[in-house]
Amino acid sequence: MQSEGLENEKIRAARVATQLVPEDATVALGSGSTAHHAIKALAARFPGGGGLRCVASSRRSEEIAKRFSLQIVPLEEVERFDLMLDGADEVAPNLTLIKGGGGAHFREKLLARMSDKLIVMVDHTKLVRKLGMRSPLPVEVVPFSVPYVARELSRRALMPTLRMSASTSLEGEPLPFVTDNGNHVLDCRVPSEILDEKSWDLQLRATPGVVETGLFVNMAHLVLVGMPDGRVEELRPKDAAHRPSSVSFLEEALTERAKAPAAPSPPKRKEKGPRLPRLGRRKRAAAAVPAQ
Ligand code: A5P
Repeated sequence: MQSEGLENEKIRAARVATQLVPEDATVALGSGSTAHHAIKALAARFPGGGGLRCVASSRRSEEIAKRFSLQIVPLEEVERFDLMLDGADEVAPNLTLIKGGGGAHFREKLLARMSDKLIVMVDHTKLVRKLGMRSPLPVEVVPFSVPYVARELSRRALMPTLRMSASTSLEGEPLPFVTDNGNHVLDCRVPSEILDEKSWDLQLRATPGVVETGLFVNMAHLVLVGMPDGRVEELRPKDAAHRPSSVSFLEEALTERAKAPAAPSPPKRKEKGPRLPRLGRRKRAAAAVPAQ
């Protein structure tokens, strides 16, 4: 369990986000605890689901949405979403995100690409100066290609770790985490400098067997940040890029974060197994940009 303070920050951010949802909108629902708060807040704002049509980015979110009487429609029926409401694991100053702590980043990114607006809701601890400060970068991988992809990622100094499930086999053996798409996740170290996040993401995705990364570049239209003092701050890409006031807000938020007591609970990420054995002795490139 996370501290009640952070949970309240997520709830406040989620409530503000749902106020931005027009009646009769077609909405993409994210995954994770903050997205679940948003689903419940949507249901409270539109009793019985109103005229909303929703598609969820994970089975869990779909279950919750149905339980709260939101109308779930098949993806085939949707060409564009008016907006998507989702959480994030990290928000960099330029609003690049790391997502996928719950392993749903493939569907999340797909629905975000189909959405006119991606509205991200986070508690203030998700704001980071640099990507990778609090979360690894999840990479979803087709199971057959995990050894190959792990080797390739290791060669690029990304130190992949196979994400493990909380459950075990009948023999008590640890089992890898399996996504809703039947794939595995390699959690990677983020290099200290990413010069071009977009091309970095593209190059990772060009590795055979990689389905998707949790790097969301130039995708968030609005980030709503629940702050410890009860405010919900708004960050927009143009603010992050150009406006000193926003930059100073971010500094302020980060300072407040530094002052805030550390959350007593353990990270929500599922138990991790041992790092995959390093395959090959080739000297690892220290470069931030993955090898071609
Ligand atoms: C799910 O795969 C993720 O992308 C979540 O959006 C992210 O992990 C944030 O989760 P919380 O809202 O639970 O912090």
